[in-house]
Amino acid sequence: MMPTRRDLKFDLADVDLKRWNANGPLLSAYMNTLSLFFPDGERFFIHSLRHYRDQVTEPELKKQITAFIGQEAMHGREHEEYNERLEAQGLPAAKLGREIFTIIEAAKKLPHDVQLSITIALEHFTAIYGDLLLRKPEIIDGSNPTMSAMWRWHALEETEHKAVAYDVYAKVMGKTLRAYLLRTSALVVITSVFLSAIAWTMARMVKADTEHRHSLRDWAKFGWLMLGPVGALRGIALPWLDYFKPGFHPWDHDNRHVLAQIDTLASQYAAAPRKLEPMAVAA
Ligand SMILES: [Fe+2]
Ligand SMILES: [Fe+2]
Repeated sequence: MMPTRRDLKFDLADVDLKRWNANGPLLSAYMNTLSLFFPDGERFFIHSLRHYRDQVTEPELKKQITAFIGQEAMHGREHEEYNERLEAQGLPAAKLGREIFTIIEAAKKLPHDVQLSITIALEHFTAIYGDLLLRKPEIIDGSNPTMSAMWRWHALEETEHKAVAYDVYAKVMGKTLRAYLLRTSALVVITSVFLSAIAWTMARMVKADTEHRHSLRDWAKFGWLMLGPVGALRGIALPWLDYFKPGFHPWDHDNRHVLAQIDTLASQYAAAPRKLEPMAVAA
């Protein structure tokens, strides 16, 4: 699977970001919270892969690394724009973004192999979240079309490049017990840190949304989406566990058929005009 860098632009100027998701303000807040983690998170993935790029000799994997970096840089740019608009609409995106930046900068001080193990653990998360979003369209169906397209694009490209960082890790770490223990323990630690950070960040995003008094019904709907049959949480439990198989590989779960929709989406948004100039990406 060779990922393709697509320079897509999503004009969010007229989107009510507090209410963009048809499932209500809390799912909007949840996905807005995820967006706060992306620009610096994706720069961290780029940083950790770049360190190993020269150690990779296979031309195919080298090209995949370049494409991975290109895709993550585009995602970072669009989510940066998204986050600026959250701030402009009265949400504390800049302050929360700085807190996330501090955590990520601390992670950059860890040994490089640990940084790579964190990257593949988080890429596992983005792959299973992306797959869930594509398999369960009710998560974004009926929502603002530009927002739906943006999230679909990100989910599709996360699927397309889901094995790149993993293959680099397998290449440089080998099939040793240490490689297995580092990879799996990183997932355990990252899961607790990541889910707590999301919950804490989302709580403050919700608190800052003073225009809307979140009712019991809003919370029940959100709880149903997370824990019910759609299973924003339940749906990721089994794929999460797969990571502990000693011979695990991201493409063991072959979902490449979902990528069929990417060209239509790309042609729709590649030419879309945007009212603001894109921000520079410090990748
Ligand atoms: Fe991404
Ligand atoms: Fe990614």
